[in-house]
Amino acid sequence: MSVNPAKSRLSVPSGSLQISEWVPALCGTNGHFLRFSLVIPTYNEGKNIKHMVQILSQLLDSVIPGDYELIVVDDDSPDRTWEIAQSLIPEYTHLRVMRRQQERGLSTAVIRGWQVARGQILGVIDGDLQHPPEVLLKLLAEIEGGADLAVASRNVEGGGVSEWSFVRRFLSRGAQILGLIILPEVVGRVDDPMSGYFMVRRCAIVDRTLNPLGYKILIEVIGRGKIGQIAEVGYVFQERQEGESKVTWKQYVEYLGHLLRLRFDRWPLARFLRFGMVGLSGVFVDMAVLYLLHDPSTLGWALTRSKIISAEVAIINNFLWNDVWTFGDMSGQQRGWRKRLKRFLKFNIVCLIGLVLNVLLLNVLYNFCRVNYLLANLIAIAAVTFWNFWINMKLNWRVTEINN
Ligand code: GDD
Ligand code: MN
Repeated sequence: MSVNPAKSRLSVPSGSLQISEWVPALCGTNGHFLRFSLVIPTYNEGKNIKHMVQILSQLLDSVIPGDYELIVVDDDSPDRTWEIAQSLIPEYTHLRVMRRQQERGLSTAVIRGWQVARGQILGVIDGDLQHPPEVLLKLLAEIEGGADLAVASRNVEGGGVSEWSFVRRFLSRGAQILGLIILPEVVGRVDDPMSGYFMVRRCAIVDRTLNPLGYKILIEVIGRGKIGQIAEVGYVFQERQEGESKVTWKQYVEYLGHLLRLRFDRWPLARFLRFGMVGLSGVFVDMAVLYLLHDPSTLGWALTRSKIISAEVAIINNFLWNDVWTFGDMSGQQRGWRKRLKRFLKFNIVCLIGLVLNVLLLNVLYNFCRVNYLLANLIAIAAVTFWNFWINMKLNWRVTEINN
């Protein structure tokens, strides 16, 4: 039976990488969501795709017949994987195929697939049979049991890799440690953050704008989704039988770029810049007051007394600006003079501790690391600004159960 390519091929969504609550293409399913949509990203998997679709269909037909779909997203493979996949549609009617010609990359392929998906549970599996399909049933069971995200993991009981070289193991672990350093609150939530085999509830990522780079889509999902409970299921990463891996050094660079992008997106960068500008205004206030109090041509007071007063005036200046501007949205939720006074006293304490840290750091850098004293001072100021910002935001301005 011949297939009309234009009809059977999915068109590629454009615009931002966002999954919507409502899918216009629910037709064909009588307007109902399916239970499960599984995306299979492919690039030159012509030798694997048929076998893959066959095994997956057999497996899922045994548990959720008629209630799932398979979505192959191919990046215009030179071996024409998309064409081979399309030729399977008459036999496997729950199979849908997308051929992307404008965009590339594993992570975005997965999201484009999810954008047209009609399932309440969205999944991804490699198209090269390295991810054992039967694990899907355990992952499904975890989601049905209440998890928002179920990850197939090489690093929990029952998991592992088959014949990996020392170098590959080392690189994989190294990448995980790097992730733990840069993005601990995301990468640390799972034992195998590098996994490309998982399922997530649609509602956990709906309307979140995803913006991944490279291969590691799981980090993007945890970093930007509303992910509560996470379950991990062990699996052994199989050896490739056909075709070859697309991983090159480029993926490692992209991975680092992806971690940094998520880090900065998660940090309130604009707020930090405001905090920095307020800090700078404080320097001028401090200088001006010091001059007024200490200079022989003005009041001519003793230096220490003048400095203590000028520093406190600067702290008051900084507090007021931060309270109405930097953290204005947060202070708006804790109105009243008493609360403001409490914030002011806390701000003083944090800044005082910051000053002590500043002196300590300057000494360590200068005496032990032999850094030039001016450079050392600059580093110390930068580090302490960061400390002041972070602690003040988390413990002072932010509304928490404790200070309510
Ligand atoms: N559409 C599309 N576009 N698919 C791609 C692209 C791309 O640019 N690059 C790779 N793929 C597909 C491959 O065809 C394969 O189905 C799957 O993505 C994984 O690619 P491989 O090149 O086989 O990756 P791997 O085996 O080295 O890495 C796997 O192991 C990691 C665990 O260390 C991937 O599964 C990762 O997702 C996984 O985390
Ligand atoms: Mn592979």
